[in-house]
Amino acid sequence: MLAVHNLEVVYEDVMLAVRGASLSVAPDAIVAVLGANGAGKTSLLRAMTGLLDIHRGKITRGNVSIDGAELDTRRAASVVRAGVGQVMEGRRVFVEFSVEENLKVGAHTVKASGIAEKLDRVYGMFPVLADRRHSSAGYLSGGEQQMVAIGRALMSDPRYLLLDEPSLGLAPKMVELIRDLIVEINDAGTGVLLIEQNAAMALSVAHHGYVMENGKTVMDAPAQVLRADEDIQEFYLGLGGEGGSLRDVKHYKRRKRWLS
Ligand SMILES: Nc1ncnc2c1ncn2[C@@H]1O[C@H](COP(=O)(O)OP(=O)(O)OP(=O)(O)O)[C@@H](O)[C@H]1O
Ligand SMILES: [Mg+2]
Repeated sequence: MLAVHNLEVVYEDVMLAVRGASLSVAPDAIVAVLGANGAGKTSLLRAMTGLLDIHRGKITRGNVSIDGAELDTRRAASVVRAGVGQVMEGRRVFVEFSVEENLKVGAHTVKASGIAEKLDRVYGMFPVLADRRHSSAGYLSGGEQQMVAIGRALMSDPRYLLLDEPSLGLAPKMVELIRDLIVEINDAGTGVLLIEQNAAMALSVAHHGYVMENGKTVMDAPAQVLRADEDIQEFYLGLGGEGGSLRDVKHYKRRKRWLS
């Protein structure tokens, strides 16, 4: 079980971005984290994967553990070795590198002799990437770049994969493809933590979900319960008449206050 206990994250010693977030991901589960812009989702993920440092952030309280053993979240490589892979927001591929070079970056903790096998596995999962293995990643479409980012994270053979808004900016067909891949990855034995603004997509595959607001996890329930929840439907699934995408939640809430 991957677990976050009462985590607090502060940037530049002043900006409190996460203020008591707790969650857990069972090794066979897909867990969704929903929340509006600025709720602290990305900060939570950075904290879990040892990437706060480069953003001048720090964990000031709480911890992250796997099966009770605390992760060294000050060192990204140590987190990867402990079995946690991540796909950051905005599919950060190295645009001048080839697809294969990008994938190899994800294998920095893997023994040289094991790399070919891992590449084969990723190419098996993403045939498009196999065909383009020597092309610059920068020439790929947004969806293909997202596949590179996911493939790169899979190169370390993680027990848990954390994804930050993998569907953002992708066409509906591509979102479907990414969603199916997430299910496939999970079926193959990887626990998944899926951060999404696209709540409909996330809740369609998740077993369990959390909602973050103002740096806190404020809801924690099976996905089917969240799907049926009126507030979730209104603010996150756009089913509340006027409700739009999650990006409009703040605006919508404000408007609703004015109208009432
Ligand atoms: N490097 C940073 N330095 C200072 N403040 C930051 C930094 N990164 C994020 N923040 C702030 O922390 C808060 C949480 O941001 P975060 O990016 O974690 O939210 P999010 O839920 O991922 O939002 P989005 O849905 O827009 O991606 C925001 O107020 C943001 O401005
Ligand atoms: Mg974010």
